[in-house]
Parts: sequence; structure tokens; C-alpha cells
Amino acid sequence: YDHLAPRLRGKKEGTFAYLTVKDRWPKIVTGLVDQLVRKRPELIQEYGPAVETDIASILEKFSKLRYEIMTDKPLCTLPENGSEGRAWNQLIFDMKTAFMPDDVEELTFFKGPWLFVECYLYRFIYSAFLTTEKLSEMDYFQDTKQRNFLDHLEQIEEAAAFMNKISEKDAPLHDLFGTNTIFKMSLWGNRADMSLTGGDNQIMKMSCVVASAKLSEYILVDDVNEMIFHVLAPLQVNKGNSKNRRIDIVLDNAGVELTNDLVLADFLLIRDFADKVVLHGKAFPWFVSDVTEKDFTWTIDSFAKAGPEGEIFGNQLKSHIGNKKLIFECDSFWTSPHPFYVMDREAPELFKEFCSSSLLIFKGDLNYRKLVGDRDWNMDTSFKTACRGFAPCPFIALRTLKAETVAGISSAVLDKINAQFEDNNSWMTSGEYAVCQFGGFAA
Ligand code: F6P
Ligand code: MG
Repeated sequence: YDHLAPRLRGKKEGTFAYLTVKDRWPKIVTGLVDQLVRKRPELIQEYGPAVETDIASILEKFSKLRYEIMTDKPLCTLPENGSEGRAWNQLIFDMKTAFMPDDVEELTFFKGPWLFVECYLYRFIYSAFLTTEKLSEMDYFQDTKQRNFLDHLEQIEEAAAFMNKISEKDAPLHDLFGTNTIFKMSLWGNRADMSLTGGDNQIMKMSCVVASAKLSEYILVDDVNEMIFHVLAPLQVNKGNSKNRRIDIVLDNAGVELTNDLVLADFLLIRDFADKVVLHGKAFPWFVSDVTEKDFTWTIDSFAKAGPEGEIFGNQLKSHIGNKKLIFECDSFWTSPHPFYVMDREAPELFKEFCSSSLLIFKGDLNYRKLVGDRDWNMDTSFKTACRGFAPCPFIALRTLKAETVAGISSAVLDKINAQFEDNNSWMTSGEYAVCQFGGFAA
């Protein structure tokens, strides 16, 4: 890794990172302000008039935050309460002093590394609520997440029906095509997300069942079959004598995406690829739409709203949870700004857990950015090089592209896409294109 590519930063005009800092973040903060103002009467009714003080303190912090983003001020320290509060301030201090990366001249909203500053932003928002008396547990993105689920009930019923059919019939064990389809449904669930639209819900017209069949030309690297061949197939065959029959899914967004990830989890269990599937979510609201434990429980309880198939599917998941085959965890590592190649140092317990997993599935754009360190790699740099040695076990990233970082694209594919887009990079951030990249085996 002698020649590391530079980190993405908001200050590079014309990039999506720049647009994000300039427009998307202020919009997300404004959305939260509007929501608090709108909900004020409701909150007073629920918590009593004392909540006014809390609301005022949050609004004051947010107006300062918006101003500081827009005028590119240095990041300030955060309140030290809550898990990892201290660690965050240490990180900010380190970044500003001894460990300032060579390619970063100052830790401000635009000049700082995009990934670090973006994680800081969501931690800042969380801290503003956490330090209040009454609103410390409020999920300020909950309405957006639940609306996404409720706006796609038809699709959710379709996905549930698809899965229920697989559970019923005695399909052959080595159905490569079927397994591939389920992974693609989970992939395309990542197509839209609520942070891309600045918190506005976006209706995904094409269901993931249909997308899995129709959108293959939008997948720039597709290692799903290779992964099935090397990892999943042997797991099913060696059922009796394999120790690590555990698969981990590092979740991304709630709503349609979580539904399709639960389809994947259910599939892995009922097709006997694993004895347990561990889902990893976020300990607090993160990047607008990411799944917390509350979202997970709410989603499973809400499948019946989609229709009879949804209800059957929800009950099946509840029985997996009851049998401890489906487990939800949220490690604080996922709400840290660290890239994954430092997981062994920053989250040794989690890393150790993954060393005994058979397969790690990373969902979404943010997980991908952390895998490749959010750097401006030459796109034909190998995925392995960009992951910088991260390999506790075999892993696969299922990601639609929403940020200008990617590795492992062949020059033939690059030539084709550059010709098609006449060298404009919008394909990297629109969420229309995807990669399914296999991260090989543990050393
Ligand atoms: O704003 C940063 C960003 O990573 C976008 O690039 C992306 O739209 C979003 O946040 C997160 O996407 P995902 O939910 O797929 O991780
Ligand atoms: Mg997300």
C-alpha cells in the first residue's frame, strides 16, 4: 500500500462530496429543524412543557451546525456523554494534531476527510438529542424510515411471497440461479436511500424481485457466483463437519432494503447454508436511513401490514429469532468513522467474532466506502489492494454506487462506461449502478 490514493474530501468542487457538504448536509439539518418545530405540540403533550427547553437547545445547536458547515469552520469537540463520546473527542484531537493525514491541511467540514466529517455530523446530531433531558432516546429519522416501509407495502408483499414459495417447495439444494437471485434482491434493495434524497422518501418503482432479473447490465463487477461456488456451496455440502456455520450481514438501510436483507437471511437459514445468521445494525440513528434495533423490531412486527404473505414471512422470522438462529447485534464500531482495515485494532472483539464466521456480507454504500477507505483509487486498482488486508473471513460487498470511490473495475468495463457517459462521473453517485465484489479468504 505504498502508494495510497488520496482520501475523498468535500473541498473538491464539482464532486459529489462537495455537493454533499454544500447542499445535502444543510438540507438534512434543516429537515430535522422543521420536524422538531412541527412536532413541538405533540412533544409537549407527551413530555410536558419542560421539553421546550430541550427543543430550544437542539435548535440552537443545529443552527450553529448549519452555519459552521456553510462557512467551513473547524470541527469542534462533542459532548462526552454516551458510549464512545470520549473516543470521538480523542479522534478529533488526533486528527487535528499529531495524526493529521498528509493529504488533509485542516479538519474543517470541507477540507477534512469526507468520511470522517460525515460520521462526525451524524454523531453531532445524535449528541444534540442525547444531552437533553426528555429527548435523549428520540429517533429523529424514524418517520422517514417507517414511511419508506409503508410506501412500498406492495413490493414487500411480493418479496415475502417470493420467499414463502421457496420455503414451501422442496427445491433442489444446489440451485445456483435461485441463490444468485436472492443476493441480487438484497443488492437492489440498496438502490434508493433516504440520505441520497436529503431525507425525502423516494418511491422505488421497480421491485427488487423484478430488478434482480432485469438489471444485470448495471452490475459492473459481479462475483456472486464465484462466492457461491467457493463459500456457500461447500457450506451446504459439508454441513455435518463444518464448525463455522455462521453468516454475518452488516446491514444498511431500513424499509425496502431491510426487507430484502431479511429475505436473504431467511433463505440462508432455510436452505441450510448456516445454523445462525447475525445481523449487524447501528446503535443509534445514522446516515438517515440505517437500521437500528428499534427499526428491526418494528419492521418484523409490521410485515403483516403488507398482506397475508408478509404475515407468514414475519412469523417465520419471529420463529428464527425465538430459536436464536437470527440474531441482531449493534457494535459501536459501525457508528465510528474508522475504515474496516483497522477493525482488528479498533474493535478486536468484533474482529475475532468475524474470524469464526463463514461469510460476511456488507450492504450498501457507506460500508463499501469504509472497506476501501473512501479513497480516490484508480478504478482498476484491485479490490483486495483497496481493502488493505482486511479479511477476517471471506466477504462480499453488495453495493449500489452513491459515492465517487470504487476499485476493482476492469479496464474494458471502464472504457465502456466512460464512453457511454462521455467522461462525466454521474454513474458513480446515482445509485443506478452496482458492484458485487468478493473479498477472498482470510489469510
Ligand atoms: O452522503 C454520503 C453517502 O455515503 C452517500 O454517498 C450515500 O448516498 C449515503 O451516504 C449512504 O448510502 P448507503 O445507505 O447505501 O450506505
Ligand atoms: Mg445507509
